Amino acid sequence: MTRTALMTAVDLVKAPLMYKGKVRELYDLGNDQMLIVVTDRISAFDYVLEPGIPDKGNVLNLVTRAWFEVTAQFMQNHMIHCDIDQLGDIIVDKEVLRHRIMVTRKATRIPVECVVRGYVTGGGWRQYQETGMINGRELPAGLRKNERLPHPIFTPAKKNDVGHDEDITIAEMEAWLGEKLTAQLAEKSIMLYVLAHAYCEDRGIVLADTKLEFGFIDDEILLIDEIFTPDSSRFWAMDKYDLDIEIDSMDKEPVRTFLANSNWDKNSQPDPLPAEVVEETAQRYTQILHALFQEK
Ligand SMILES: Nc1ncnc2c1ncn2[C@@H]1O[C@H](COP(=O)(O)OP(=O)(O)O)[C@@H](O)[C@H]1O
Ligand SMILES: [Mg+2]
Repeated sequence: MTRTALMTAVDLVKAPLMYKGKVRELYDLGNDQMLIVVTDRISAFDYVLEPGIPDKGNVLNLVTRAWFEVTAQFMQNHMIHCDIDQLGDIIVDKEVLRHRIMVTRKATRIPVECVVRGYVTGGGWRQYQETGMINGRELPAGLRKNERLPHPIFTPAKKNDVGHDEDITIAEMEAWLGEKLTAQLAEKSIMLYVLAHAYCEDRGIVLADTKLEFGFIDDEILLIDEIFTPDSSRFWAMDKYDLDIEIDSMDKEPVRTFLANSNWDKNSQPDPLPAEVVEETAQRYTQILHALFQEK
């Protein structure tokens, strides 16, 4: 993929804007359809950082599209097509948006981040160290950081409109959304994680954990948003998976390291990312696309 110009603001679609997220913009196409444009914006702790990461939008969209194709036979999803030429006059500059768009079905979002963890790491590791549990679930004693769990676990978080997402227990999710829906989402999330974990393993990558989102159309549940991307998942190179060393994850790690070293208070706009951090991150996103979906 040749590097394209940074695209962090969308001003190229003549359709009503439904939602402007931290990374995506959603446009109403009528007929129960919408257009998702994935920008090169990057966020951390609910802040959109400056500048963006060149080609990040293309990568996220192409990765999501490929995973939707791989998983469609097991779980339906919101994708209709990614063909910009079918959109006619509503797109002002087709070449800029060519790989960054997906036409989808409009769903009623279920406001839960369906997180699946196969390994004890990140926020899960912090919880486990403090309590021996993750989201209220008891885990075997003596696990080491980044160790594989005996089984993948479902650790949901409530999507809050204001403020951060909030980890909840299965019992809390059941009380909120009902036992049946909770069981369905847990079962589908774990099934998809197991499938993707095996696919990644075949390509020398460990899918440590991930976040999925689901929605309803009438009474049907379907996958929405993005899936198994470097923004929603933690990928490790298998040949660097070693419990005795710090694992460098394949995605936003340069950004996390920069922010951690910059004494950012997480309550104000952080410093702009230096050029080397932007470049290193751009390379990692592109590498994941290739590692996952280039012909072997
Ligand atoms: N098919 C769909 N129907 C309704 N909402 C969707 C659908 N797909 C994705 N979304 C929502 O669109 C938003 C995508 O934009 P994003 O920039 O990722 O937002 P956020 O900053 O909330 O993460 C998310 O809030 C997601 O829940
Ligand atoms: Mg999002």
